[in-house]
Amino acid sequence: MADRVRCAVVVGNSDGIGLAFTRRLLADGWRVAGLSRRENGINVPTYTHHTVDVTSPDYSEVLGKAVDELGRVDLCVYAAGIGEPVDLADLDAQTRTFEVNLMGAVRTVAVVVPTMVAAGDGHLIGLSSLADRLVSGDAPGYAGSKAGLSSYLMGLAAALRGHGVHVTTVRFGFVDTKMAKGPVRPLMMPVERAVEVLTRCVRTRPVLVSRPRRMALLTSALTTLTRLRPR
Ligand SMILES: NC(=O)c1ccc[n+]([C@@H]2O[C@H](COP(=O)([O-])OP(=O)(O)OC[C@H]3O[C@@H](n4cnc5c(N)ncnc54)[C@H](OP(=O)(O)O)[C@@H]3O)[C@@H](O)[C@H]2O)c1
Repeated sequence: MADRVRCAVVVGNSDGIGLAFTRRLLADGWRVAGLSRRENGINVPTYTHHTVDVTSPDYSEVLGKAVDELGRVDLCVYAAGIGEPVDLADLDAQTRTFEVNLMGAVRTVAVVVPTMVAAGDGHLIGLSSLADRLVSGDAPGYAGSKAGLSSYLMGLAAALRGHGVHVTTVRFGFVDTKMAKGPVRPLMMPVERAVEVLTRCVRTRPVLVSRPRRMALLTSALTTLTRLRPR
């Protein structure tokens, strides 16, 4: 494996953490296929972009073709995500949040993991959130979808033990992208820091990473409170 070019798929990389991490992988010599609804302006021979919505019926097919073109997938990063405040008169945005954050990831896993199992090697990283243990009256779809995502990915990590395939659940607090648009963003991380965390994950392949650590502690305390009294 010494001199072989490593291949990665990054889903949700027209912006934010996915885009910054794609740039890092390319700078580190990876071949990358990216998927999102919009282009991202990266134009180098080692990069191919596929414009697709992870909720569309043809998503699995487009992803499958991207994987076939790469030839193998050493790393898959699921970075697609949305978060919307609740509107009790119209819950469609909450439904869509589950479709993107959770079902998009579930569909990605269904395409990518069997190829990794067949190769006896591979690494899947899913961007969950420290919100995955919160009960949120403000954005219930976001917290609920991330709860499902974290639980599924950690279950997969256990199921894949002994198959050479590793699954990492990354739980960030606030990261400075357009998603973190609320007025209160304690201990917000620059996107470069998030990229460093992911780069380290690629090296060490942990099951679970929660950053920043102080925010993780704060969220644990909040979790206890919100479960006692949801707001
Ligand atoms: N920023 C934070 O504070 C924070 C904290 C914890 C966890 N996270 C998680 O980290 C991940 C990345 O977030 P970010 O901050 O980088 O957000 P972002 O800047 O808003 O980027 C989100 C990415 O997801 C893609 N995406 C959204 N809906 C999609 C769809 N239906 N189909 C395909 N791609 C879609 C977007 O591309 P298109 O619009 O082009 O499709 C974009 O590239 C998310 O899962 C988020 O929940 C973020």
